[in-house]
Amino acid sequence: MSKHIDITIKDGILSIVMNRPEKKNALTLDMYTSMAHAMRGAENDPNVRVILFTGAGGNFTSGNDLGDFMMNPPVGEDSPVWLFLSALLEAKKPLVAGVTGVAVGIGTTMLLHCDLAYAGESARFLLPFINLGLVPEAGSSFLLPRILGHPKAAELLMLGDVFGAGHAYEMGFINQVAADDEVIALAQAKAAHLAAKPPAALRLTKAMLKEGHADALAATIRKESGLFIERLSSPEAAEALQAFMERRPPDFSKFS
Ligand code: COA
Repeated sequence: MSKHIDITIKDGILSIVMNRPEKKNALTLDMYTSMAHAMRGAENDPNVRVILFTGAGGNFTSGNDLGDFMMNPPVGEDSPVWLFLSALLEAKKPLVAGVTGVAVGIGTTMLLHCDLAYAGESARFLLPFINLGLVPEAGSSFLLPRILGHPKAAELLMLGDVFGAGHAYEMGFINQVAADDEVIALAQAKAAHLAAKPPAALRLTKAMLKEGHADALAATIRKESGLFIERLSSPEAAEALQAFMERRPPDFSKFS
């Protein structure tokens, strides 16, 4: 298990805390593996009725560790990123998220797989894939147009700008905005509320909500993943990742 993922089970809630505050909880391969493992274990654990995601140190997560993108790109369906995505996609129990601070990349796209998501008022969201020379992931190119409509989805995925909790709420992306110091407690309270519901009915309700688009979503995730892996070795992505490491703006002017 990763030392940067804290797992507890209490009162029917599996709590998964991303805890690597010095890197804004950027997700390493070990962290993905630990989260996927905990989620898979929860499926058959009668002590778990709900899964709750939060981040330690005031941030949700700054997304995939960018060093890992360069050194350990996610190739193949046994890669830790893929294992985590599949666990999200196939989760039968409700997923709840409490977002504080930054939620970048998968920190934002994983919310599309959560049943309930709450954000602190100063939370900041970002789908940076375009800025990194990459393509959308985690089914976001399928789910965002469904949730927001094409223009808003294009705004988030093609402009790749930061947006705040208020905008996320107005777009229908999250359930509620709360004070920063109350949002984790709110998410915990909603998770507890779900944990008190009849569990089989809850699982069936979740399954019915997802059934209509499950196959198309899974197919999109596969397609995105293939493109994403290709793009990671593109000159555009190399420039973007190098620029991040060198703390300078990327220069895409030479690409056609
Ligand atoms: N991967 C690896 N390291 C990351 C990281 C990531 N995704 N996000 C942040 N870090 C590291 C920074 O390099 C920095 O490390 P250092 O102290 O050793 O220099 C530390 O975390 C703090 O980040 P910093 O950039 O100084 O914080 P900030 O508040 O100025 O900005 C972000 C926060 C999240 C906006 C910014 O760090 C960022 O853009 N990160 C990259 C996000 C990203 O593109 N993720 C990939 C998604 S696909």
